[in-house]
Amino acid sequence: EKGEYKHFLHKEIHEQPKAIADTILGRLKFKGQNIWLEGIDTQKLKAINRVLIVACGTSFHSAMIGKQIIEEKAKIPVEIELASEFRYRNCILDKNTLVIGISQSGETADTIGALNSAKSRGMALLAICNAIDSAIARLCEDDAGIFYTRAGPEISVASTKAFTTQVAALHLLALTFAYLNKSLHKGEILKEIEKLKTIPKVIESVLACEKDIAKVAQNVASADHMLFLGRGILYPIALEGALKMKEISYLHAEGYAAGEMKHGPIALIDENMPVVVLAAKGQGYEKIVSNLEEVKARNGRVLVLCDKNDKKLIKRSDMNFLLPFCDSTILPFVAAIPLQLFAYHVALIRGTDVDQPRNLAKSVTVE
Ligand code: M6R
Repeated sequence: EKGEYKHFLHKEIHEQPKAIADTILGRLKFKGQNIWLEGIDTQKLKAINRVLIVACGTSFHSAMIGKQIIEEKAKIPVEIELASEFRYRNCILDKNTLVIGISQSGETADTIGALNSAKSRGMALLAICNAIDSAIARLCEDDAGIFYTRAGPEISVASTKAFTTQVAALHLLALTFAYLNKSLHKGEILKEIEKLKTIPKVIESVLACEKDIAKVAQNVASADHMLFLGRGILYPIALEGALKMKEISYLHAEGYAAGEMKHGPIALIDENMPVVVLAAKGQGYEKIVSNLEEVKARNGRVLVLCDKNDKKLIKRSDMNFLLPFCDSTILPFVAAIPLQLFAYHVALIRGTDVDQPRNLAKSVTVE
């Protein structure tokens, strides 16, 4: 089943171009004046003026990205809650709030618990889910509906293709909201979809640089700690990069909003702690350049993820992951890939059980 790959994780990372294409193509259409999103009762979305997303782990990181996309495209306020927190909190909800659950497995106990608690309060529910006919899918099917990510089976405990397809799903949902509340017109939405369709090709080009990423992994695999910094849409990507790293390589990694560094984590920086800085124009670029300088001034080793033409940052970095040019729509998908491969190669060097890390289960069906 693993084919040419040694690990499911590696195979699943490389499956992302197809998984994303399958999740996007033919899933959103216009039928006359109406918008159609597969699996979703768009009538139920018409009166929605607030969204709450619940999820855990990597799915929560895609929720963080979804918040930014929906707020930007559809101008609807979005709150995000860890499912484990939401279910025991008396969160303020009203009848025009849509509660979205995001889950790869559809069987995560905390997310099921959160959705059940929202359901008992009469809230409209929608699921973004990868596993067909799972508990979460069933909870939402007679409600606002289920948008299935088409990642295919994800076997490795660490989530990769489920994550990027969830972000794709959230894009389509944001565009649907934007049409329904007239934030965007049909022409603008079709243009956005064309842009999304280019993602698989761009990802292919990043996957082709795997050898360079593996070399960077050689340089840092013996570290005990690592920090991942990002701003804007790259902040959740930093959290996801750190989660992948700790989960499969057991190297202690923390993700932080770069602006928070000076509020504590800066105390950790020395020559032994590599700092991964995620930078892109439009995502607090100038500010993150100065964060990088702060790290360098404290003898930190800087690993920069940036545009391949960003000579200024490349010159200032000790190591780098270079991306082709991407605008903010494509950026989170593309930026996630080198960090997944990075964690994979560090794990290979450290000799951990990549597909089945200790103490973890693929779906967390207990609290
Ligand atoms: O199946 P789910 O998306 O509900 O799972 C949520 C988390 O348990 C999951 O994303 C976990 O954090 C992964 N192991 C991360 O790689």
